[in-house]
Amino acid sequence: MPEPILRVRDLSVQYRGKEQTTYAVNGVSLDLYKGEVLALVGESGSGKTTVALSIPKLLPGEAQITSGAVEFQGQQLFDLNDDQLRTVRGRQISMIFQDPVAGLNPVISVGDQVAEILTSHLEISKKDAKRRVPALLSAAGLADAERVAKAYPFQLSGGMCQRVMIAIATALDPELIIADEPTSALDVTVQAQILAELDRLRRERGTSILLITHNFGVVAQIADRVAVVYGGRIVEKGTPETVMPKPLHPYTAALLATLPRLDALRGELPSIPGSPPEMTEPVEHCPFLPRCQKAMSRCRTEPAPPLEPDASGERLVACYNPMWIADDG
Ligand SMILES: Nc1ncnc2c1ncn2[C@@H]1O[C@H](COP(=O)(O)OP(=O)(O)OP(=O)(O)O)[C@@H](O)[C@H]1O
Ligand SMILES: [Mg+2]
Repeated sequence: MPEPILRVRDLSVQYRGKEQTTYAVNGVSLDLYKGEVLALVGESGSGKTTVALSIPKLLPGEAQITSGAVEFQGQQLFDLNDDQLRTVRGRQISMIFQDPVAGLNPVISVGDQVAEILTSHLEISKKDAKRRVPALLSAAGLADAERVAKAYPFQLSGGMCQRVMIAIATALDPELIIADEPTSALDVTVQAQILAELDRLRRERGTSILLITHNFGVVAQIADRVAVVYGGRIVEKGTPETVMPKPLHPYTAALLATLPRLDALRGELPSIPGSPPEMTEPVEHCPFLPRCQKAMSRCRTEPAPPLEPDASGERLVACYNPMWIADDG
């Protein structure tokens, strides 16, 4: 078995405000292998972005990492100083965010923005960097790269801007790309093209991708494995092929049941009854307990269940009363 390139262990993060503390991430562990796409999926506020920002230590000042470690290619990232982290970011780990237009500087041509990532990390002149820009833009799937390089972000569509962000994120051939909802601001066709682009990167360059999404369609299309996040914890993890047809955690099942279906188009879109946890206090029991259809007395008395392999050993679930008996065929 190869070593994972990224290993997150027991990560907990709190946002400390004047009025309240938010327990945003509570003991998350995950591994990511070379060339693998791992999707983090969960409702808004479940802690996905906080996990993502913790890895390259890009959390805002009010955030506190209260436990855990991140090992990337054998380096403990939380032990690095700011200079060392700056080298890792962009060069070895890069990020793609939801809103490509906001991620780009509006008053600098996109070509100059791509060139800047090269000059800031490589011993290379501005002129040489600019010469490499069209090839990088074409590699990210932009036709007519010479013209695009001269354009400003507002002159390009959202999909084109996201391709520019991909060109910037991949310019230095990073080992890891963290993509936080990279397609949710785009229409469905462009979304599929961007996913195909990420898929090509992992196949051709062996890039590992941590992909954050709330969309199981995206998970099915590109992920090798999926981790379902609820209340700042991973509650279920496995391949999309095992998790999606037969979710074990009642939350995963509820989330999948909210997917729009053709036969339900005339009715209302189902939603999970109850509301997501506030996360302003440490959880004593399973965070899904107040909304769970399958809760038993044990769930109300014992601490939150740990993430453990099911009987098949193929997937992990954190639940005392999962949806299916694992070996029921
Ligand atoms: N800067 C911040 N200060 C205080 N609380 C925050 C901050 N950022 C996030 N939170 C809170 O931390 C929790 C987790 O937020 P996070 O953004 O990680 O969730 P998410 O899963 O990425 O949600 P979304 O799908 O909406 O992007 C939420 O309760 C959120 O309100
Ligand atoms: Mg988010």
